[in-house]
Amino acid sequence: MTMYSRIIGTGSYLPEKVLSNLDLESMVDTSDEWIQTRTGIKQRHIAAPGQTTSDLAMEASRNAIDAAGIRASDIDLVIVATTTPDMIFPSTACILQNKLGIAGSPAFDVQAVCSGFIYALATADMFVNSGKSRNALVVGSEICSRIIDWNDRSTCVLFGDGAGAVVLTQDQKPGILSSHLHADGSYNQVLSAPASIHSGEMQGTPFITMEGGTVFKFAVKVLEEAVSEALRANNLQSSDIDWLIPHQANIRIITSTAKKLGIPEEKVVATVAQHGNTSAASVPLALDQAVRDGRIQSDQYVVLEGVGGGFTWGSILLRW
Ligand code: COA
Repeated sequence: MTMYSRIIGTGSYLPEKVLSNLDLESMVDTSDEWIQTRTGIKQRHIAAPGQTTSDLAMEASRNAIDAAGIRASDIDLVIVATTTPDMIFPSTACILQNKLGIAGSPAFDVQAVCSGFIYALATADMFVNSGKSRNALVVGSEICSRIIDWNDRSTCVLFGDGAGAVVLTQDQKPGILSSHLHADGSYNQVLSAPASIHSGEMQGTPFITMEGGTVFKFAVKVLEEAVSEALRANNLQSSDIDWLIPHQANIRIITSTAKKLGIPEEKVVATVAQHGNTSAASVPLALDQAVRDGRIQSDQYVVLEGVGGGFTWGSILLRW
């Protein structure tokens, strides 16, 4: 009998502190009008100085575990997608596992930047549908604010902090129908935080740098391709899709992709205005919002898509 993995609970967390576009006007030469017109972002959340990526992940995970109606001890796989881990090692997933009071089952991080949650969920799906795991916790958690140059107006207005999580369980009923992952490392310098540690000294620049226009064009192209690939693999048309949950980087990337796919705006979940680009956390944050406000209903077709540094990109099609 074919086994599937199915999301049975979602959760999210945004840090208390809100940084508005007006706040940014007093920090760099920018305006609320420029930011909203070019990106659709109104505000972003910023982690408190003492908060860590695993703290944010912990809050989102608790919400997802509660929503799933299971106990933390039922979790037998922890995957955290992050580009801003607590430390070089151990993985943020191991730190989160300990904070949840569980031990023994595998825990590891996935690094695919803004596609991180798509990569992590696709990986967890393979553990669960093959019977290796029964209940997987999949988290996207980021503190982007710590790798941003707050004097660089071309990047500092775009990013924010947050976390989202899902519990994935084995079921005879779908569930995740397909996942499609891609990467092209020849773009590795177009979007990066190019620093490394050498004998205790940092070399390079530890801040997000990017060629905004190149990223924008590439994102729209590959996101359309990744969703079309998912539709073809399942013999579906774009009109069959009930909800598109895109990576939340820029409202113009989101609407351009949806338009190319022929998916109407009412079927697109957009949360970028409230939290900016939270990298690996953005897809599960949007998913959790649409689940909790009742938009996503049983049996509907939902497509998740993401693109990020690497470049990496991908899509996941599921039946709710
Ligand atoms: N406030 C005001 N002006 C700004 C600004 C800001 N925060 N940031 C850049 N500008 C200026 C630029 O300096 C440029 O000025 P110039 O014309 O005098 O040179 C002007 O605005 C236009 O810049 P441009 O780069 O053409 O704007 P754009 O319409 O392409 O939008 C981005 C810029 C960054 C919003 C857009 O390219 C983008 O979203 N790219 C994708 C980024 C992304 O999503 N990265 C993560 C992907 S996972």
